[in-house]
Amino acid sequence: MNITVLAGGVSPEREVSLSSGSLIANTLAENGHRVLLLDLALGYPDLPSDPTTLFGCAKDRRYSIRATEPNPDLLRARKDGAVMGPHVAEICALSDAVFLALHGGAGENGQVQAMLDCIGVPYTGSGYDGSLLAMDKDLTKRLLRDAGVPTPEWALCESDESDVDERIAKVGFPCVVKPADGGSSIGVSFAGTREELVAAIERAKKYSRRLLVERKIVGRELTVGILGVRVLPPVEMIPKEGFYDYRNKYAGTTEELCPAPISEEVNKRLSEYASRAFRILRLRGYARFDFLLDKEERLWCLEANTLPGMTPTSLFPREAAALGISYRALCETLLQMALNG
Ligand SMILES: Nc1ncnc2c1ncn2[C@@H]1O[C@H](COP(=O)(O)OP(=O)(O)O)[C@@H](O)[C@H]1O
Ligand SMILES: [Mg+2]
Repeated sequence: MNITVLAGGVSPEREVSLSSGSLIANTLAENGHRVLLLDLALGYPDLPSDPTTLFGCAKDRRYSIRATEPNPDLLRARKDGAVMGPHVAEICALSDAVFLALHGGAGENGQVQAMLDCIGVPYTGSGYDGSLLAMDKDLTKRLLRDAGVPTPEWALCESDESDVDERIAKVGFPCVVKPADGGSSIGVSFAGTREELVAAIERAKKYSRRLLVERKIVGRELTVGILGVRVLPPVEMIPKEGFYDYRNKYAGTTEELCPAPISEEVNKRLSEYASRAFRILRLRGYARFDFLLDKEERLWCLEANTLPGMTPTSLFPREAAALGISYRALCETLLQMALNG
């Protein structure tokens, strides 16, 4: 089968995506597929006369991303409007399926999914609607709250609104400021005072015009994945220092326990909340949900990840492995789910 693995793009999580994408591409080739690893932002400017020759099995060629460093000129051009490089849609249209290894931005907010729907090509993971809902932390939390899945008190903060102060007051201190459509903890910071809040908002604003100010929960970090109809064993993440920020996510400075050492009762509640969130957010295939567990053993759902990391150290593959599902089997399962709709 000819499979395009889409990775890269212009989101701040570009590097993480390139890491997920190259591992997925290698693995799909090991599974016997003809694979092309394609950077969403860079595309393939010099398309050969027979583009199907791009799909191949020679490991030394097709897995190397065309440019691991984002080309600033190309990326700047993309930021003006287009998020897709040359010939991406044409190459996807020639594929039997597209494996999405994108994180954040257009790859996770439904835009790429909608493009693939329009050209009729199957792809892994959630559709455009679920992707849109889950990428928007404000919409996600509204739906969670309505469905009885606890989520910390929050206020959406958009620069042109007049009652922001009033709504932030309801959240109180300490609080967390984060981009409403971010990921990998990029732009997330804490505030204990009004001055810190102003600084935190300034920091987060660099990444998005829509911010969330959320009540800070002191507790343990848990995450739980869903694969098809199965809830995977949760992971507890214990950063050696500080909170679970970008560095602690990717520098190997966090202890990860899988399955998480939590009581059966908490585990049951976690599974129930994750399954409910999966359903109400209209998700498909797989997803990973981040929670905090406070001292009173209350669970708080922070967010849903529709394209969870698939890097060599990522949490989702680790959860699958705890059930005896290898990385190879995981990639194949996700692909087959895409093909079987
Ligand atoms: N309400 C909160 N209370 C305490 N810590 C939080 C809260 N919200 C976020 N965090 C911290 O920031 C991290 C990233 O937040 P999250 O909402 O999961 O966004 P991202 O999409 O960036 O992963 C969390 O894993 C946690 O460490
Ligand atoms: Mg998270």
